[in-house]
Amino acid sequence: MKKGQSHLPDSVRWENGRLVILDQSELPIKVVYKELTCLDEVWEAIRQLEVRGAPAIGITVGYGICLATLNSKADSYEELWAEFQKNAAYLASSRPTAVNLFWALDRMSNKVQEMKGKAVSEIKQGLLAEADRIKEENDDLCRRIAENGFPLIKECTGVLTHCNAGPIATASQYGTALGPLILAHESGIPVKVYADETRPLNQGSRLTAWELQQIGVDVALICDNMAAAVMAQGRVQAVLVGCDRVACNGDVANKIGTYGVAILAKEHGIPFYVAGPTSSFDFSAQSGADIVIEERNPAEVTCGFGRRTAPEGIGVYNPAFDVTPAKYVTAFITEAGVIRPPFIDGLRKLTEKHL
Ligand code: MRU
Repeated sequence: MKKGQSHLPDSVRWENGRLVILDQSELPIKVVYKELTCLDEVWEAIRQLEVRGAPAIGITVGYGICLATLNSKADSYEELWAEFQKNAAYLASSRPTAVNLFWALDRMSNKVQEMKGKAVSEIKQGLLAEADRIKEENDDLCRRIAENGFPLIKECTGVLTHCNAGPIATASQYGTALGPLILAHESGIPVKVYADETRPLNQGSRLTAWELQQIGVDVALICDNMAAAVMAQGRVQAVLVGCDRVACNGDVANKIGTYGVAILAKEHGIPFYVAGPTSSFDFSAQSGADIVIEERNPAEVTCGFGRRTAPEGIGVYNPAFDVTPAKYVTAFITEAGVIRPPFIDGLRKLTEKHL
């Protein structure tokens, strides 16, 4: 893709019967598209963050289930359903925090059960159609998130973001948190994006900086420990981040470091916005305490820059996400509209109306 072109190719797609992903672990050094040929490869691609970002993970498991089902030798509904359940449980074990993964598996599971009594071949095609629908709907949701968030940032000269919640995290043209900023760029409104590097795996520098540069959005990369200074210097008038799971009281699980950014924003009187589709809201989680936080390999912390940056044998704690309490969130930007406190009422009303 040429620099300045507004749209990146979809990071997850079903192409002539093949599941193809943009291998995000290779960015920004190489742009590699990779075919996933079986369930083990899908599981591994999710676990290793070759495909990552809550909505993109949801789309991938939808197609991943299709990959296994289309190759299945089952010749009865019962056999197919038993295989489906085993495969879904396996994919569900790849990463615990992003609720979109479980949401997409539920949708696929409902589809199989709805088609009970139909021929196995028909069920297979029905599943593929459902996976396509999840992806198509996601494009539309992200566009609406971009439009709903745009009025909140269009007067800003600078906006800070953490991690990567852009097109490649959603297999769509706008992403979630980056959507309003990409829309501003497309409308000729210059908003500078300050992208946190996002240790330990640098999704901000490897992915957000890369994709905004490709699109032509003005972006300044900063180390995570620069956010406070950037705010104190008056460089940003809003913070915009994505989400992996939102509890019904408005507590938000997102990439580790988000909580700290939210506290800094509050201290500096800067609005803190969380963008995400309503499929990222988990109404079975009463609060952040109900959200499972993934812990990852210590090597991500000790060898993060391609060489050891800590002594051998050092103890490490490496949670991949944190929970930002609802009281730090100014508003949620969803496809269904902007939700302001009190979140319990707002989230319920908007999602009941639009789901
Ligand atoms: O570990 P990752 O890279 O999958 O974490 C991703 C995030 O925390 C994103 O902010 C979130 O999934 C939203 S993506 C639109």
